[in-house]
Amino acid sequence: MKFTVMAAGFAACVMMASAHVAVAQNDFRNTVTGEVLDIYGQAPEAGRDTPAVKKFMQTGVNPYTEVKGCLPKGEEVYLESCSGCHGHVGEGKVGPGLADSYWTYPKNTTDKGLFETIFGGANGMMGPHGGHLELDNHLKLIAWIRHLQVDDVKDAEWLTDEQKKSFKPFNSDEWEKTGRAAALKEKCAISGN
Ligand code: HEC
Repeated sequence: MKFTVMAAGFAACVMMASAHVAVAQNDFRNTVTGEVLDIYGQAPEAGRDTPAVKKFMQTGVNPYTEVKGCLPKGEEVYLESCSGCHGHVGEGKVGPGLADSYWTYPKNTTDKGLFETIFGGANGMMGPHGGHLELDNHLKLIAWIRHLQVDDVKDAEWLTDEQKKSFKPFNSDEWEKTGRAAALKEKCAISGN
């Protein structure tokens, strides 16, 4: 009897310990309050299990950054949910610009930080978007926002040094003329997709 109770207690401890590891990996927090975000409690069921989402949840790095095939969907989501306040190409309206190197919340220079701000919201009119945007679409949206960048990317934590070398500031005309059509021909995938 005693043994069973101890064994059960031990099993519970092991379970709690492994649950704890998962929480540590998913230590995503609200940008303003610092509260832990309940990602799997709030995100839509669809779009949770893609290789990109799994990788992002473990690393906090967006695997879709610079994957051209992901940009058209990212653009679509942006135009649907964000451009009304942040401007057509992130130039800023009632919400701040997202295409320059100034960030109210410095953590938005990282993919994890930007995800947290979009998922959980910030102050005032910047409401939470975690409940209606699929997780995989969050990553496409973030790739699109990064693509809109027009400032120097030397402090851009979302790019590797290699990516910085080949980065070109967003050019709206070029995107309209050739960029979108070329991106639509490519897949939005990372290895493992
Ligand atoms: C109803 C208007 C509105 C909508 C829609 C909206 N935002 Fe915002 N957003 C704001 C405002 C206002 C702020 C400033 C809030 C603050 O400083 O806390 C903001 C702040 C932000 C910031 C922080 C910028 C910084 O400088 O650190 C990011 C990132 C952001 N929004 C992204 C988005 C994205 C992505 C979407 C679409 C999914 C979106 N917003 C939709 C109004 C909006």
